[in-house]
Amino acid sequence: MDLQFQQFHQDPCLPGHRNPYEIYAALRQQSAVHWCEGPQMWVVLGYSESVELMRDARLSRHDHLDHLISRFGHNGQIYERQKQDLPYMDGKQHAQMRQHVSKAYRGIDMAALASFASQFAVERLSRVQGDEPFDLVALLANELSIMVVSELMGVPASQQLDVANQVSAFVRARGLTQNEQSASGGNEALDVYSQFFLPLIHERRGGSGKDLLSRLIADPEEGIHLSDDQLLLIISSNFYSASLYTLRLLIGTVAWAMASHPATYQRLRNDRTLLAPAVEEVLRWDPPAQAINASSATEDLHIAGQIIRAGDSITALVGAANRDPKVFEQPDAFLIERSPNPHLSFAPGLHQCLGLQLARMQGAAVLSVLCDQFESLHCIQAESRLQVADRFRGYECLILHR
Ligand code: HEM
Repeated sequence: MDLQFQQFHQDPCLPGHRNPYEIYAALRQQSAVHWCEGPQMWVVLGYSESVELMRDARLSRHDHLDHLISRFGHNGQIYERQKQDLPYMDGKQHAQMRQHVSKAYRGIDMAALASFASQFAVERLSRVQGDEPFDLVALLANELSIMVVSELMGVPASQQLDVANQVSAFVRARGLTQNEQSASGGNEALDVYSQFFLPLIHERRGGSGKDLLSRLIADPEEGIHLSDDQLLLIISSNFYSASLYTLRLLIGTVAWAMASHPATYQRLRNDRTLLAPAVEEVLRWDPPAQAINASSATEDLHIAGQIIRAGDSITALVGAANRDPKVFEQPDAFLIERSPNPHLSFAPGLHQCLGLQLARMQGAAVLSVLCDQFESLHCIQAESRLQVADRFRGYECLILHR
């Protein structure tokens, strides 16, 4: 375990680790908050402490970015630009922008998108012949996410493939553990996004389009004016980082959870009212976003008997908090009947996920199609691969068969 503790202190989300949860449990027993040398920040593992952190307005995301900017010099440009992006804003500016983005999201036709996601999943999964093995990520998860983003933006998926390839580098530059490579990768990804999105933003400005992109650009009732650079960041992070990346991971984890719990899968096949609670339990048990973005304390804080000094950076490790035995009985068990299931996977607090209904809806749509088309699901673990990507967890390749 010692080596694993050392790994945790270098990279607390233990990217690609088969079972980080037993390490988190052992660490949580020692203390609900740990200092990690790699990312140079405090990491909170307890549930109630994480909830407090998510709600605490004495934390600043801009201040955390300033640490990174001073650490990376010219390469830190990406962090300067991230200041204009929703997850990194603070206070009033954040509240105002959040209101604008959530209003644009409220216009999404969820029923139409659910039926689109189902039809796409039906078409893709019906390509599987008999009990031949297939990679769910390549067959469905990757492209469904891109197709959904296309629907939302009103841009054909074929035009987005190059841009979608940049998503990993962009997301990596939003991780906890940064280095020269992740900083420059983020800058390059944003350059590619600029080439793609700026002409699109210019084309849609002044138009009266009904797609989400147009609604983000302008809302005549609000009178908000967003600069091109601000829009670029918000669109890249909303559509690509937040939506495409996490959804792709959720789809894989939903299927993996079913393959590893065959009796639960059969219950679901017989009773579709269990779909929504099953998706919630997947989100609790193995969350796609293992930690929230880091912030810095603007004054001294006391967390779990520890003083977090003003200026120190800190994050909440959602994957650990979701298995805190003070809140969840049998925290390691996958139990779809948990009720309530107050997991923290959408970061309930000041930066709560704005796409949570979209994520839930698509997770349930895919699970329902799997139930319809596959009387049983098995995973070939030796041929499947977890991705290795900082604070996000899920499959890069998931080999399944009937
Ligand atoms: C399984 C899917 C998803 C998960 C697990 C997830 C998780 C999260 C988490 C943990 C945060 C908080 C980040 C932080 O505080 O640092 C967040 C924020 C956000 N998410 Fe999601 N998300 C998912 C899907 C989506 C989708 C589909 C969209 C939009 C289409 C979306 C849009 C956003 C936005 C805009 C924020 C920033 C909110 C703010 O800073 O005020 N997410 N998400």
